[in-house]
Amino acid sequence: MLTVNKTLGVLCRLPKWQIHGFLRSFTFRPGKQFLHKLVLGIETSCDDTAAAVVDETGSILGEAIHSQTEVHLKTGGIIPSVAQQLHRENIEQIVKKTLCASGVTPNELSAVATTVKPGLALSLGVGLEYSLQLVNQYKKPFIPIHHMEAHALTIRITNKVDFPFLVLLVSGGHCLLAIVQGISDFLLLGKSLDMAPGDLLDKVARRLSLIKHPAYSTMSGGKAIEHLAKQGNRLHFDFQHPLHYCRNCNFSFSGLQTAVDKIITQKEKEEGVEKGHILSCAADIAAAVQHTVASHIAKRTHRAILFCQQRGFLTPSNAILVVSGGVASNLYIRRTLEIVTRATNCVLLCPPVKLCTDNGIMIAWNGVERLRAGLGILYNTEGLRYEPK
Ligand code: KG4
Ligand code: ZN
Repeated sequence: MLTVNKTLGVLCRLPKWQIHGFLRSFTFRPGKQFLHKLVLGIETSCDDTAAAVVDETGSILGEAIHSQTEVHLKTGGIIPSVAQQLHRENIEQIVKKTLCASGVTPNELSAVATTVKPGLALSLGVGLEYSLQLVNQYKKPFIPIHHMEAHALTIRITNKVDFPFLVLLVSGGHCLLAIVQGISDFLLLGKSLDMAPGDLLDKVARRLSLIKHPAYSTMSGGKAIEHLAKQGNRLHFDFQHPLHYCRNCNFSFSGLQTAVDKIITQKEKEEGVEKGHILSCAADIAAAVQHTVASHIAKRTHRAILFCQQRGFLTPSNAILVVSGGVASNLYIRRTLEIVTRATNCVLLCPPVKLCTDNGIMIAWNGVERLRAGLGILYNTEGLRYEPK
C-alpha cells in the first residue's frame, strides 16, 4: 500500500496532461500490491537465445535461455549461419516461455529491450527483427541495448553500486577496462589489442581436444579449462606474460595462443600422441594457461586501479572493481583479482556466475536502467539497424 500511496502523491503533483502518460508507463499486476515498470529483454548477439522479464526493482519475473554451445563445440567454433538458424528456430518459444513464466502478457510490458550491438551480424539480426515485430504489434517502446554496457551494469541488479566505478569486462569477444560514469557513459582505459581471453581459452580447449573427454565435452572452452586446471600443476609450464614491457592498461592474448600451440605440438611429438587425442599433460597446460591469463588480467587491472586512485576517479568511499562477462565466472581469475583489490583497498564485486555469461536478464535490466533514466527509448523504430562492431 505504501507504494500505491506514494504513487498517488506523485499523481497529485503532476499537471493533468502528464497523468495519462504517467499511468501508462506503469503496469498494474492484479493480485499484487505494487505498481512497477516491466521490461522484456531479448539477447541474440552470439550463440545464446535468451530472454527475461525484469521489473524496476530488479526482480526477475521470468527467464529462458537456449544455448548453442554444444552445437558449436562439435563444429569447432561458431558458424554464423548456423547460429542464425538456431536463433530463428528458438526465439519465439524462448520469448513465449519467458512471458509465461513471468505471468505477464505483452500488453503489460512497459518496453522491449534488445541487444543491437556488438555481436555477430546474422545473430543480432534475428533478435532485432523479432523484437521490432513485437513492439509494432503491441505498440510498445523499444530500447536498443549495447551488449557490453549490459554486462557492466548487471551488478546493479544484485548490489547497490553507485557511479562511478571501475569495470573489467572479460568475455569471448571482449576484454576491456573502463570507468563507468553513468548508464551509458564509459571512459575506456584499456582493451585487448588482439583476441579476447574467452576466445583464447576456447581455442586452447579445442586444441587440447577436450571435447573428446566425457567430463568436459559439453562445457564451453573456458569452463572446461577451469575444471581441468584443478587437476594440473601450473608450474610444469612457464608461459611468458604478455605486454610486460608496456606501461598501459591494454591486453594481448594472441602471443600466448601461439606459445601454447607450440608447446602442445611439441608434447604431441614427445608423447607420440596424434593431433586430436588428449595429452597426458593436458591438465598442467590448462593450469599454466589459466594462470598466465589470470595474472595478465590482474596486472593490467592493478595498473588501472592505481591510475583511477591517483586521478581521483576512485575514492576510498567508492573504490569498487566490478568484473563481469563470461570469463568472470572463472573462480581462479576472481581469486587472483581479489589479491589485487585487497592490496589496493578496493572492493571486488562480481555478479553471480549465471549472470556473468550471456543472458536475457542483463538485457532487460539495462532496459530498466534506461527506462528509469529516460535514455535511448524509441517510440519510432524506423531505419533502426544492428551494429556488429
Ligand atoms: O559473455 P559470454 O557468455 O559471451 C560473450 O559475450 O562472449 O562469454 C563467453 C566466454 C566463452 O569464451 C567461454 O569459454 C568463457 O566465456 N567462459 C569461461 C568460463 N565460463 C565461460 N571462461 C573461463 N572460465 C569459465 N568458468
Ligand atoms: Zn557477453
